[in-house]
Amino acid sequence: MASDPAPNPHATEAEVEAARSDPKLANVLYHDWEADTYDEKWSISYDERCIDYATGRFRAACGANDKHGRAVAGDEDWPYEHAMELGSGTGFFLLNLMSGGVIKKGSVTDLSPGMVRVALRNAQSLGLDVDGRVADAERIPYDDNSFDLVVGHAVLHHIPDVPAAFREVLRVLKPGGRFVFAGEPTKIGDTYARKLGQFTWWLTTNVTKLPALSGWRRPQSELDESSRAAALEAVVDLHTFDPTDLERMARDAGAAQVHAHTEELAAALFGWPVRTFEAAVPQERLTMGWRMFAYKAWLRLSWLDENVLRKLAPRDLFYNVLITGTKP
Ligand SMILES: C[S@@+](CC[C@H](N)C(=O)[O-])C[C@H]1O[C@@H](n2cnc3c(N)ncnc32)[C@H](O)[C@@H]1O
Repeated sequence: MASDPAPNPHATEAEVEAARSDPKLANVLYHDWEADTYDEKWSISYDERCIDYATGRFRAACGANDKHGRAVAGDEDWPYEHAMELGSGTGFFLLNLMSGGVIKKGSVTDLSPGMVRVALRNAQSLGLDVDGRVADAERIPYDDNSFDLVVGHAVLHHIPDVPAAFREVLRVLKPGGRFVFAGEPTKIGDTYARKLGQFTWWLTTNVTKLPALSGWRRPQSELDESSRAAALEAVVDLHTFDPTDLERMARDAGAAQVHAHTEELAAALFGWPVRTFEAAVPQERLTMGWRMFAYKAWLRLSWLDENVLRKLAPRDLFYNVLITGTKP
């Protein structure tokens, strides 16, 4: 893979067709396609809200890693000198962890040249010390023992050979170095999220056909483009994870102190229909009042998940799985 991050903004029908049987090509096309609008689509920002979210996920992954209830990699281990992100996208996780004081120097990597370009642009505008390369997680183009920390957010489920990626992560980590992956779908969580999303899309796009609600309907060309994107999305989403299987995979690759943590149950049951509704209607309809309502409701439900449902429900029911471990 060339290391020149030249973007490919729009896939042709022929490319989409070829990508149906090639998940890596699909990933490049789909994420190149999305790169310039990705932050807006997923409400990604580089401010207190997303810094809190990113550092919160990092703490959640590391904090529960000790049988005695102590955080194995707590705030006292920060800052990590040099961290690399796999499948960085626009830099959401790594850049916000850097701004939150978790990491000093960063390297972004992604299979999509468009994403690497946007991540480097974001890092530059934030004044962060970041370099970047186009890279496949199954063959990371860095020397052995290069990094103190490797992170990833919502990337493992796109990688065809996840055990190979874990072996590569352990190779490029320094001895004692840590990895943290967050934002991966659990098997059960993905099932209910997908069904809720499909139902919400169907309901919204049909109800907004009513003449009285035509102002809530996105132009057909945009809905068609979303459907083409959804066709690629079905190819790029390769895995869902059982937390125990994911732990075993990391251990088999040679990791130590491995622990998977899950989160978001009520928050996911609320969040997936909301996110799908937001994607199905014109952006100008989503007022700041609506966005604040949705965000605050999600925060309250996350609190409920952490403080009540976690004690009652098995970990496999939650939507997100996070995993950490170290190189011996
Ligand atoms: C769902 S996006 C997440 C992006 C970012 N981490 C975030 O949370 O906003 C997944 C990213 O992983 C990248 N990716 C997919 N397969 C990959 C692979 N084999 N190696 C490296 N990156 C990959 C995609 O190009 C995409 O940018």
